[in-house]
Amino acid sequence: MEDLVSLCKRRGFIFQSGEIYGGLQGMYDFGPLGVELKNNLKHSWWSSMIYENDNIEGLDAAILTNPSILKQSGHEDTFSDPMVDCKSCNLRFRADQVPEHCKEEDLTEPRQFNLMFKTNVGPIDDGTSFGYLRPETAQSIFTNFKNIVDSTSKSLPFGIAQIGKAFRNEITPRNFIFRVREFEQMELEFFVKPGTDEKWHESWVQKRLDWWVQQGVPMESIELYEVPKDELAHYSKRTVDVMYKFPHGLEELEGIANRTDFDLGSHTKNQEDLNITAKVIENKSSNSRLAIQDNESKKWLVPYVIEPSAGVERGILAIINEAYNVEQLKDGKERTVLKLRPHLSPVKAAVIPLKKNNEDLVKLAANLKTKLQKLNLGRIVLENSGNIGKGYRRHDEIGTPMCITIDFESLEDNSATVRDRDTMEQKRIQIEDLPAYLMQIIND
Ligand code: GAP
Repeated sequence: MEDLVSLCKRRGFIFQSGEIYGGLQGMYDFGPLGVELKNNLKHSWWSSMIYENDNIEGLDAAILTNPSILKQSGHEDTFSDPMVDCKSCNLRFRADQVPEHCKEEDLTEPRQFNLMFKTNVGPIDDGTSFGYLRPETAQSIFTNFKNIVDSTSKSLPFGIAQIGKAFRNEITPRNFIFRVREFEQMELEFFVKPGTDEKWHESWVQKRLDWWVQQGVPMESIELYEVPKDELAHYSKRTVDVMYKFPHGLEELEGIANRTDFDLGSHTKNQEDLNITAKVIENKSSNSRLAIQDNESKKWLVPYVIEPSAGVERGILAIINEAYNVEQLKDGKERTVLKLRPHLSPVKAAVIPLKKNNEDLVKLAANLKTKLQKLNLGRIVLENSGNIGKGYRRHDEIGTPMCITIDFESLEDNSATVRDRDTMEQKRIQIEDLPAYLMQIIND
């Protein structure tokens, strides 16, 4: 983990937030390369959900949330962790995460601590006008259910997907970006006919595993965990966690839950008239019925929901951990290389003129950069440092799939040297062929 944290800071992937003021626990900022990697991962998820499935729609809803929503979802009453204080070191811990140096007799009785961040909405601070920073993106998908059904004419089965910030006032944030207080979730709520839910659940577990493998997280590093009945969230009939071997141990990367008709049912008025199976929370404030007409029976029903929910930060940590390699070279030296899947690499290609500030070389390199950039594959950089070896080392470390060197021969024959990140092999390629070559590498 130390090596990853150090690389992330040194190369500009991830910084501690507010570091110049001593930081703020559980918060991180994504730097120039981190934001590219994060965007690429989110794009890959979005594309696999929405662009590849005509029955999945996207959403980008507000973060500040009406308290009624989180009352009805059960979060106001149950979204809490047991917390204890140590009277000896005066620190506070989650009851299941007390460090060894604290003695049992020094701990207070566990108290429930709600993890939601509450904030004032509007200019009056008298406690009556407040909202929550959402603890999951899912609830705004449920509350927009009818808007989306009505505006897109969807019928079952169909999904609504969202990527966005979520906030939890974790008692003990830790393990770098693994457990933080501000993070992003990639969540799909997939609505199905009751009775078909178990089959859909199985199918989404498989789809999600395939997707993680495509992001460079191999099955050897993953285990599925069947969450025991007595540990299930209040809304869940069954949850399968995708567990990943993080540097600090085997922990949850993504949860795939069968939320039944609990959420749509709890946000619905006149619940008695619908055949809701879950133990819903009685609703006196909603003005809507979150039901859909069944195509065959024409009856109104509240769908069941299958929810794959993944954390962006945990995904980034797993992906960097898998990609990080330190290799022994033949000359006795070491090289650090980030073998990211090319579609995730923050920089897709570096164009390097052999000699710094040489007008002809830089001009040819700049033209090539512009041409490659126009392919819209992601960021292409022009490295005008004149130090090829240093350029290669830097781009190995940040996971750039290819470096293109423009030398004096290039001016004569319009070719360039292309170096592959993983094999370090170099070959001459005609400059006019480079766009197609790069496109093939990134899209493979
Ligand atoms: N809507 C369902 C839900 O929120 P969850 O298991 O509480 O379920 C889903 O969270 C995912 O969000 C987790 O698998 C994890 O990847 C991510 N996540 C949750 N809490 C987190 C935290 N404090 N820091 C980073 N990621 C977190």
